[in-house]
Amino acid sequence: MVKDMPIIAHLECSRCKTTVSAEKPPTICAHCKGPLYVRYDLTPWRGVSARNDISRQAANSTWPGMWRYRSVLPEARPVTLGEGWTPMLASKRYPGVFLKEEGANPTGTFKARGLALAVTMARHYGLRKLAVPSAGNAAGALAAYAAAADIAAHIFMPRDVPFANYVEAIAYGANVTLVNGLISDCGRIVAERKEEEGWFDISTMKEPFRVEGKKTMGYELVEQLGWEYPDAVFYPTGGGVGLIGMWKAFGELEELGWVKPGKKPRMVAVQSSGCAPVVRAFERGNNVSEMWERAETFASGLRVPKPYGDSIILEILRDSGGLALALPDETILASLKDWARNEGIFLSPEGAAATAAYDHLIETGYLKSGDRVVLFNTGSGLKYTDVTAQAMRVERPLCRIRFARGERDT
Ligand SMILES: Cc1ncc(COP(=O)(O)O)c(C=O)c1O
Ligand SMILES: [Zn+2]
Repeated sequence: MVKDMPIIAHLECSRCKTTVSAEKPPTICAHCKGPLYVRYDLTPWRGVSARNDISRQAANSTWPGMWRYRSVLPEARPVTLGEGWTPMLASKRYPGVFLKEEGANPTGTFKARGLALAVTMARHYGLRKLAVPSAGNAAGALAAYAAAADIAAHIFMPRDVPFANYVEAIAYGANVTLVNGLISDCGRIVAERKEEEGWFDISTMKEPFRVEGKKTMGYELVEQLGWEYPDAVFYPTGGGVGLIGMWKAFGELEELGWVKPGKKPRMVAVQSSGCAPVVRAFERGNNVSEMWERAETFASGLRVPKPYGDSIILEILRDSGGLALALPDETILASLKDWARNEGIFLSPEGAAATAAYDHLIETGYLKSGDRVVLFNTGSGLKYTDVTAQAMRVERPLCRIRFARGERDT
């Protein structure tokens, strides 16, 4: 028993609402293949006094970061590398705009939150071999947490992921396969081989704990804004795990009575015009997305041609009064350079999609200057030096330095 953590009451299918016990490692709904949500009895933590305990307990806890929200995370001893509680940076230029700097996480992206919890639960259930198809950053995060937990990681990612994703996964000792294709092709390989190999599949939305880890972003942004909702949240959307997790967090915050009463934020899903299945479905009024052909963007985390949780993402966008929009890579790159030069923040291309979307929605009048918004920089720009350099056409200049006879020649 771990003190101060809730026991999972059951798992609930996001589509058909069937409930399942959490006795065995959960996957998807056996009836309709819908993603499962973790449900608890949160009664003991209801009210403002339990909420106010969070910061006091965090100061004395050996589990840092997102584990300050242990009272809403499943009871298990954490596998932690210090994920979460990332900075909420006020923009120097735009009043009301906050950048949630997820690049400060271990492995440099927000994927750390979901994989920290997924690996924590894998260890709790005694799983020994995990497999993941990844656009790149989930691979790095799984590799790190699996190493920390002495669990084997089998990783499948596109051949052309940012080089950092390949190097980190190898360094952490994961079994890495580079695939000539996209994350969807990688997912197929995992699905075909997992039974024979004895792998537990932790693909996006095919187990409930990555969402559960990423929901801490929702708790955190509300706490960092004084337990109040912002007007809008901008989220670079691939598989949509963070968006789904944050929306779950907002629901729980209301159940707990931890948030000042108000309207939930409008959720804005941002994609690249080179791969925008959610945007197309949203604009057409569809409930599910269609496979995006020839997906291509330097925001590699957004290269997800058909998210498994598409219907949930679309429902959240509509329920929140939000929207989905896509921007071309050139506009994303321009925003990346703008924030680097003018704010001192080196965004990931995915984060720059969010900042570019903010500019766009100010121009269209969807938002007004001064509206309180949170833009997610989901990863550090430093993980993308190869792809961003290529997009910026930056090459290392040829350089010769001779120190003989004090001569210097460059
Ligand atoms: C930096 C970055 N941002 C955003 C995303 C999309 O995340 P999600 O699957 O939660 O939509 C990814 C996914 O790989 C990513 O690596
Ligand atoms: Zn179901």
